[in-house]
Amino acid sequence: MAKILVLFSTLLLATPLCNAQLAILAQLSGKKYFGTATDNSELTNTSYVAQLGNTLDFHQLTPANSMKWDATEPSRGTFTFNGGDAIVQQAESRGQLVRGHNCVWHNQLPDWVTAGNFDNATLLSIVQNHCGTLVGHYKGKIYIVLADSVLLCVVSWDVVNECLNDDGTFRQSVFFNTTGLAYIKTALRTARAADPKAKLYINDFNIEGSGAKSTALMNLVKELKSEGVPIDGIGVQSHLIVGEVPTTMRQNLQDFADLGVEVAITELDIRMNLPETPELLAQQEKDYQTVISACKAVRGCIGVTLWDWTDKFSWVPGTFAGQGAACPWDENFKRKPAYLGIVKGFLSL
Ligand SMILES: *[C@@H]1O[C@H](CO)[C@@H](O)[C@H](O)[C@H]1NC(C)=O
Ligand SMILES: *[C@@H]1O[C@H](CO)[C@@H](O)[C@H](O)[C@H]1NC(C)=O
Ligand SMILES: *[C@@H]1O[C@H](CO)[C@@H](O)[C@H](O)[C@H]1NC(C)=O
Repeated sequence: MAKILVLFSTLLLATPLCNAQLAILAQLSGKKYFGTATDNSELTNTSYVAQLGNTLDFHQLTPANSMKWDATEPSRGTFTFNGGDAIVQQAESRGQLVRGHNCVWHNQLPDWVTAGNFDNATLLSIVQNHCGTLVGHYKGKIYIVLADSVLLCVVSWDVVNECLNDDGTFRQSVFFNTTGLAYIKTALRTARAADPKAKLYINDFNIEGSGAKSTALMNLVKELKSEGVPIDGIGVQSHLIVGEVPTTMRQNLQDFADLGVEVAITELDIRMNLPETPELLAQQEKDYQTVISACKAVRGCIGVTLWDWTDKFSWVPGTFAGQGAACPWDENFKRKPAYLGIVKGFLSL
């Protein structure tokens, strides 16, 4: 196997014709997929869509925005799935699987949710209706088809997104303030009932390395499991900074997996202070390699998703002033050293 991989990598690195291989390498490493987030407005660029549908690189898509609450239930009880459906259709056209994202989050909420002054029971029924309708709409859509159907892998939902603060306390959202932890349990139970085959995740950032937030998440997962609340996975977002990948990442992913849940890298990008320099790009290559080797080394880490593959459509410059160049492809869709970092991570070079 090692020999085959080395041969394969030599071929890959030597020939410019060999276009793209991240998804293949992920599967050779025992992972279920390598994928990327995308957004509806990006689907008008035909060269972008061509690479998005390149299944040698991407087996999986995540809708970056169009399944969020403001997009799917803009007014109470009125659901619109057009944006999410378009991403799912794009994925289906290429045989790619989809991660649903997300059911309950404190951001991108419509005013009717945040300003509704609902009591506990009413808000829980709103969460239940939202998650049940959303997950139910995509039931059976969220799957992977492989030609030999060896891997019938049901894909996942980020049911609960970013419920913790960095210090490990619970985030004081409208949901937590009104219901306590009940919204988390209701969302998970409702999602399970709506699509019993989907893997249900809690997804968060700043849980790449060990620390207060990771410990709190592990305690939450233990509590949910002890109460029989369905929880199948931990989504480790991995919005990282060049030169700052936590040294405890591999061990931390293992600690999560040891709870008996799946782990996935769900939103990977590694940003830098602009302008980019050859030194920063070289460090970024190393950082991508570190993240991928950490996932590769942990059997329970089942897949990796980039938070878009090209700097052209990265969320970073719009959110972190003066930072960017976080993706493995540049704004002109040319592969950066970071791409090679991912390859090396999967090959453990
Ligand atoms: C939640 O409660 C805290 C503490 O009372 C308050 O500071 C915060 O503004 C509340 N957040 C929301 C979204 O209601
Ligand atoms: C909200 O209601 C649920 C279900 O009845 C209950 O378990 C939970 O403790 C309540 N939360 C608060 C903050 O009262
Ligand atoms: C797509 O994006 C590429 C890279 O930025 C650009 O060169 C091209 O003109 C865009 N195509 C369309 C149709 O917008």
